Amino acid sequence: MATKNELIEMLATSSPDAIENLRQHAYQIMKDHVGELVYYRGIIELSNICTLNCHYCGIRRSNTAAQRYELDDEQVIEAAIWCAKQGYGSIVIQSGERRNHAFTARITRLVLEIKRKSISEKLPNGLGITLSLGEQSPATYRQWFNAGAHRYLLRIESTNQALFAALHPPAQQLDQRLQALHDLRDEGYQVGTGVMIGLPGQTLEMLADDILFFRDSDIDMIGMGPFIPHAQTPMSTEALGNTLRSKEERLQLALNMIAATRIACPDINIASTTALQAIVPDGREQGLTYGANVTMPNLTPAEVRKDYTLYDGKPCLDESKTECRTCLLRRIQSTGRQVGFDQWGDSLHFAHRTKTQPPH
Ligand code: 5AD
Ligand code: FES
Repeated sequence: MATKNELIEMLATSSPDAIENLRQHAYQIMKDHVGELVYYRGIIELSNICTLNCHYCGIRRSNTAAQRYELDDEQVIEAAIWCAKQGYGSIVIQSGERRNHAFTARITRLVLEIKRKSISEKLPNGLGITLSLGEQSPATYRQWFNAGAHRYLLRIESTNQALFAALHPPAQQLDQRLQALHDLRDEGYQVGTGVMIGLPGQTLEMLADDILFFRDSDIDMIGMGPFIPHAQTPMSTEALGNTLRSKEERLQLALNMIAATRIACPDINIASTTALQAIVPDGREQGLTYGANVTMPNLTPAEVRKDYTLYDGKPCLDESKTECRTCLLRRIQSTGRQVGFDQWGDSLHFAHRTKTQPPH
């Protein structure tokens, strides 16, 4: 089992030879434990209306320059069913955070409807549905689980108290986020979390602690990527000045973090995120070569994609979901990998910790 010091050493890797060794080591561990298939989660960005005010995020409540939108039911269901037809197997519904009843009840209806409509010969249990809708009450998590969602993503952003506090207004507390992750686990979800990498004030030691947290709290899935400043936030490039690491440093640190996480947690699912691609065009492919085994094609209708801008330079803003499909497949195949079509691609770690076979 990797120690904290070993993790810090992995994260600090900087010479080309050492980086290549780290990458190959992580890739081999991935191959041995979860195989080489890449699983898709088609992501539908339901709405950028958000009641929270995270300092780093472009859709934060106080950003009055953001053009707010909300997809209607037909748009969401159409995108989900398109996914099922393409063989994607799983979707993620993500949105700015809202806790009111109208919102939570709408999600329940959408999950039920998508499940019902996506059952087919190829997908006898329908689409795998992951939700990424922030902190909610246990009762809400239960309702959504009972409707058919079985995975949930809720990033911890940083496990370091001081750093978490620097990233969020006082009303948003690390303890609440930790409690929400516990609640999700209690409700039976496969639980995903993650952090931003290369934040001002973030040390390698803090990132190593984040990995130990993933391991010690038995996390099933990870999604993480480099921090990328958004101009209309308190953490813009301008405001951060020389506390911001260079793009190149943030990219390499994010890749090292993927590799170190794979080495520490061999049987989890790790996503290669869009934020990597926002730094360099082949960022997501690079993430896959460092041990990631999941990627999330964007299914949000092209008309509103530009409005779901969490950070500047988000790629694929003008592409339709059909264009993304062809492009992404080409990108994955360029790394010598195949896509696990028509499968949920559940986290093996979840199967191991619950001692059951994955449901699909
Ligand atoms: N840079 C990188 N990632 C970001 N996120 C939000 N804002 C940014 C940013 N400026 C990530 C957070 C959040 C996820 C949905 O997007 O980690 O949990
Ligand atoms: Fe969207 Fe390439 S992944 S256009």
